[in-house]
Amino acid sequence: SSIYGDYIKSVIRTVPDWPQPGVNFRDITPLLQNSAAFRKLIDSFVHRYQELEVDAIAAIDARGFIVGAPLAYELGCSFVPVRKKGKLPFKTISETYTLEYGESTVELHSDAFREHDRIVIIDDLIATGGTMLAAASLIARSGGHIVELASILDLPELGGSAKIREAGYSVFSVCS
Ligand code: PRP
Ligand code: HPA
Repeated sequence: SSIYGDYIKSVIRTVPDWPQPGVNFRDITPLLQNSAAFRKLIDSFVHRYQELEVDAIAAIDARGFIVGAPLAYELGCSFVPVRKKGKLPFKTISETYTLEYGESTVELHSDAFREHDRIVIIDDLIATGGTMLAAASLIARSGGHIVELASILDLPELGGSAKIREAGYSVFSVCS
């Protein structure tokens, strides 16, 4: 985690029993409403990646876009959306993964970046890790070099970040 980790964590709200009984939903909207906190958040990612020669930030639909776009802007690299099925208009590759109940599919444009480009994948939160691993698979299949998978918040008790590390990727979260 970053030096601002405890502060960032303090501005994430927990909403009990949403979207269903027994789930504690981690809500980042108070963090986004707080301009000082949002700046510290983006600065944490910029600081971590500015010397690593990143070619593209691949951000995950939808909340990953909120952090991915300002990060790409600050790093002066490209922004690549990894989107839910049916949203990207050009030629796509897709990856289907299992959720707690059912499945989901994410897609990437076939011309999103060049082979061997250095990519950081970013999202708001790692729960089971399924979404991040599906995105990583898309990037790897397209010939990208994955520098790291990054999130604002990790929920380690759900095992996602451990699973991602077992798959051989580096993971960075601002807080957990
Ligand atoms: C949430 C979250 C991550 C994913 C984490 O997205 O933003 O993308 O779930 O869960 P996992 O680690 O178990 O895969 P959601 O599908 O709710 O989409 P949204 O950003 O469009 O709200
Ligand atoms: N908050 C936000 N998104 C999520 C969560 C959560 O607690 N769990 C899975 N996706």
